Amino acid sequence: MTALALVALLALDWFPRGLEPIDTGAAPASAKTCAGCHAGTHAEWARSRHGLAWTNAIFQREYTDKPLDWCVHCHAPLKEQLAQVHAGGGPLANEGVTCVACHVRGGRMVARTRAEGSPHDTDARADFGSPAYCGGCHQFNFPVVEDDAAGRPTLVRRYTAHPMQDTEHQHAAGAKAAQECLSCHARASTAGHLFPGGHDAIFVARAVTVRSCRDRHALDVALTNTGAGHNIPTGDLHRHLVLRAWRASAPERLGEALFGRRFEPAADGGKRDALDTTIPVGETRHARFRLADLGGAAREPIRVELRLVYTIDEFPFRGRELAAPTTVTMFADARAWTALPRCAPR
Ligand code: HEC
Ligand code: HEC
Ligand code: HEC
Ligand code: HEC
Ligand code: HEC
Repeated sequence: MTALALVALLALDWFPRGLEPIDTGAAPASAKTCAGCHAGTHAEWARSRHGLAWTNAIFQREYTDKPLDWCVHCHAPLKEQLAQVHAGGGPLANEGVTCVACHVRGGRMVARTRAEGSPHDTDARADFGSPAYCGGCHQFNFPVVEDDAAGRPTLVRRYTAHPMQDTEHQHAAGAKAAQECLSCHARASTAGHLFPGGHDAIFVARAVTVRSCRDRHALDVALTNTGAGHNIPTGDLHRHLVLRAWRASAPERLGEALFGRRFEPAADGGKRDALDTTIPVGETRHARFRLADLGGAAREPIRVELRLVYTIDEFPFRGRELAAPTTVTMFADARAWTALPRCAPR
């Protein structure tokens, strides 16, 4: 293979996809060393999920249950961060997906373009920040966990053929494939480094269009993915939507519908989807609630609420409580049956 072909091949894969930590080819600089000159960028990153990828309560709860190096390879991905984690933790590990994990390779700064007057020896690459680049961490299959020498299930050396997080692929297969991830996630903040997603209440509320109508004896709620460039929800396998309809005087008859994924063992060693009711780009899913089932008084408003849940357990049981919210409300409405429009024939 020629040297040129080798360089092209390396450029295709920016990330070891969880199988190894990232080696940037230089002693890693802390995000703090960038803050002096990139204050706005640093401030956004510090409160982004990238900046919080290691320390956030939701991740830490799951990691405490399954403390695999594999998790560290994406949530605090530098090899120096892994060394700190092995030594009991440290400030660099706490930076999660830090600046240099995305921006330094082979000891050089990497970006899409180099600004005039930049002090950095920047390697400008057109595919920096492309969907394939983001997929380096946002697209991977179920792992096969093997026993280590001491017989503990801690080693991840290979993947099954079934996606655990499928965001890059959903994007490529969807109607908005021509819009880069950055066109939604980086253009949403001044310095482009907040990367709002499921944890941003306003961003999330714009993702789904909710329409309710009365269809003979049932309330029909249609959820359309009008705002995202991939399924809703995407990302972490525990994410799901909960849609509820009820009347305040009859809470015991609350109707509920879930949109998410369920899993079963796969023949190749890990798991696979047994059910997937996430909503693809541009598509609509319906939930129906029979009026008679809802109870309450005839003129009483029917409340409809849609939530995104981050965790497998919306209401964590004792000992699994979280210091962070486990859900965000995407939509809420209350209308009397007669105030709802009739459904168009389908
Ligand atoms: C001494 C000031 C200074 C420090 C420290 C600094 N930068 Fe920069 N950087 C700049 C300037 C000036 C530019 C030119 C564009 C601009 O003004 O944002 C730039 C541009 C960049 C670019 C865009 C590519 C380019 O070369 O134009 C990236 C990416 C970048 N910096 C990352 C970082 C990271 C990551 C750190 C910390 C490890 C860092 N910088 C530390 C001053 C600095
Ligand atoms: C998840 C990966 C990721 C992380 C973490 C990250 N960046 Fe970036 N950075 C990008 C991408 C992608 C772009 C290109 C943005 C664009 O074209 O809109 C970029 C662009 C830049 C630029 C060029 C100017 C701009 O905003 O377009 C600078 C400067 C920069 N980053 C600095 C930093 C600093 C400093 C940090 C840490 C505080 C950081 N980045 C963390 C992915 C990242
Ligand atoms: C080095 C690995 C890595 C890279 C590269 C990366 N991400 Fe992430 N990203 C993560 C991790 C890990 C999280 C989740 C942190 C958490 O909440 O625990 C995350 C979270 C996010 C979120 C927030 C999700 C939410 O629910 O709020 C968005 C949006 C996002 N990333 C978009 C991108 C885009 C767009 C790119 C490409 C420019 C990118 N990421 C590149 C690892 C990465
Ligand atoms: C057309 C705009 C758009 C594009 C393109 C887009 N996203 Fe999103 N993304 C959204 C919206 C809106 C949400 C909030 C809805 C949600 O949480 O699913 C979101 C949520 C997310 C989340 C949080 C997971 C979740 O479902 O809660 C991640 C991670 C993410 N996007 C990553 C990416 C990556 C990686 C790409 C490119 C491969 C990308 N997005 C392309 C709009 C977009
Ligand atoms: C190949 C990269 C990769 C590996 C390995 C990985 N993750 Fe993640 N993880 C991500 C990305 C990317 C996201 C962001 C998607 C989202 O926000 O839904 C994420 C999100 C999460 C979330 C959701 C956090 C939130 O803010 O809601 C949890 C919890 C989590 N990961 C736990 C783990 C645990 C525990 C392990 C190891 C058993 C692990 N992850 C391994 C890439 C990875």
